[in-house]
Amino acid sequence: MTFTWNQNISVADETLDEQHKNLLKQIEALHKAQQAQQAGMGDKAVLETLEFLDDYILTHLLYEESYMWKHKFPDFYAHREIHSGFVRQYNAFKKKFAKNHSKNITRDIYLFLGEWWIGHISVEDDEYQEYITAHPHSHPKNEIKNFHTSVQEYIVLSRVNRG
Ligand SMILES: [Fe+2]
Ligand SMILES: [Fe+2]
Repeated sequence: MTFTWNQNISVADETLDEQHKNLLKQIEALHKAQQAQQAGMGDKAVLETLEFLDDYILTHLLYEESYMWKHKFPDFYAHREIHSGFVRQYNAFKKKFAKNHSKNITRDIYLFLGEWWIGHISVEDDEYQEYITAHPHSHPKNEIKNFHTSVQEYIVLSRVNRG
């Protein structure tokens, strides 16, 4: 199984599409790293890939949330809640991995990430894409500063999984 980006899951924004492509690429890198781990080559590549993903996921979620806010996407809060739910689930996997760097847990993380991101990009991200394509207005600059993001919450959560 591979999780790859294709034009059908474009969200009509170059930066966000680029981020989604990179995310899926890194998820596939985790698969390669898992196969190396399975072949007895150690877990260094797995650790490096997970570390990269932790930062990249956080960057993406925050960027996307500010993008939806800027474009007055009406389901902004519901979408952000879905992101938080993902972070909680991901952290639960990472906690298991911290206790035991097993190749089976690495595989579970890979499958969880691939399925979650493909599903999320093609369903929920597609919803803001449709709205923004139909309503291409954006907040005046002075309203952007009222954007209350869950940055703090995400940072606390991502620290948990680094032990
Ligand atoms: Fe996204
Ligand atoms: Fe999203």
